[in-house]
Amino acid sequence: MDIAVAERVNKIGSYAFADVDNIVDQLKKEGIEPIDFGVGDPTLPTPEIIRDACIKGLEKRKSSGYPSYIGNEEYRKTVAWWSKQRFGIDLDPDTEIMSTIGSKEAIFNFPETFINPGDYTLALNPGYPAWSRGTHFAEGKTYYLNLLPENKFLPDFGSIPKKVLKKAKLLWINYPNNPTTAFPTKEFYQEVLEVGDRYNIIVASDESYTENYYDEPPQSILGLKRDGVVVFQSLSKRSNMTCYRVGWIAGDSRIISAYKKVKPNIDSGTATFIQDAAIAALKDEKHVKVLREDYRKKRDIIINSFSKIGLERCEPKGTIYLWQKVPDGYTSLDFSKKLLAKEVAVVTTPGSWLSQEAHGVNPGEGFVRLALVPSIEKVKEAARKIENLKL
Ligand SMILES: Cc1ncc(COP(=O)(O)O)c(C=O)c1O
Repeated sequence: MDIAVAERVNKIGSYAFADVDNIVDQLKKEGIEPIDFGVGDPTLPTPEIIRDACIKGLEKRKSSGYPSYIGNEEYRKTVAWWSKQRFGIDLDPDTEIMSTIGSKEAIFNFPETFINPGDYTLALNPGYPAWSRGTHFAEGKTYYLNLLPENKFLPDFGSIPKKVLKKAKLLWINYPNNPTTAFPTKEFYQEVLEVGDRYNIIVASDESYTENYYDEPPQSILGLKRDGVVVFQSLSKRSNMTCYRVGWIAGDSRIISAYKKVKPNIDSGTATFIQDAAIAALKDEKHVKVLREDYRKKRDIIINSFSKIGLERCEPKGTIYLWQKVPDGYTSLDFSKKLLAKEVAVVTTPGSWLSQEAHGVNPGEGFVRLALVPSIEKVKEAARKIENLKL
């Protein structure tokens, strides 16, 4: 029998990280253990305090059945408490917060709630694939907002055609930004909110990296406005909990209420013992500070090594990434390949793989992304090898 895959599946390209994995596998087959800065998946263990809470939760809830779709009351109250401590915002745990299976679940499924066929989503480019893929599966179209160095990696809202703005239902933003590491400012958020207001577009702020900062803590857009705004949060990068799959959405109760109608049709709630682990994580800031210092050391080691071979210094204020400009005469892919050569064996992601060709350019071209996830020893080893590179 012929197996016919749906058109919407045929239209999607491969997931960039699957391509990175293939190259790494090839090197391993040749007996080389590459130092992997490819995927933003922390390698340090999840802190003990969180693992312990998870184990205790398993015992405590040995016959708890299906978890709640929106998260249990204690979890939502803890999120509300944390949001007040961290951002100074008051959220109603019943109507303005719901749990998610990491932020990816909610990001991908969210457009189903608001996009009709042919509607537009406005999404940053480069950016997290689920913003546009979720739109695609909801039969909407994505209008890409290119992030360019000359605009400090902020979108140029003035360049969006009026007819697109009129058909747009969602605007995805993400600051601190993956991959460019750009940081949010109050002025920028005000501009975003004005666009949302003027054209009746829901502002969906992916705030997965607000806790990964080096000096000054970034604010949440919810601190400025709640009407028409929703934020997506995650414990994956704050607390090394990528494997746990836990996060939340918070904001305008009308938006949350609409998503509450969609989610139970798609998947289930976050496991109760994972919510226990998340509560322990949110109540502890010590481990977050320790992780921040680890990222700072790694950031400085790698920035210095690139600087020694004449590359422009990138000095991110946040995220777990470096967005390194490649040397003159190289494309993103050329430079990634140069770093992957046997004598260096450092895995990076070419910026061009993280972006779409849009409006005549690939805005990620000219950059490589490094996720600062290998151990500090491996980072030092990588830095020594980078310093010996002949460009
Ligand atoms: C910008 C951004 N949003 C969302 C996610 C999804 O993270 P998670 O589903 O682990 O919360 C990621 C993961 O790397 C990301 O970089």
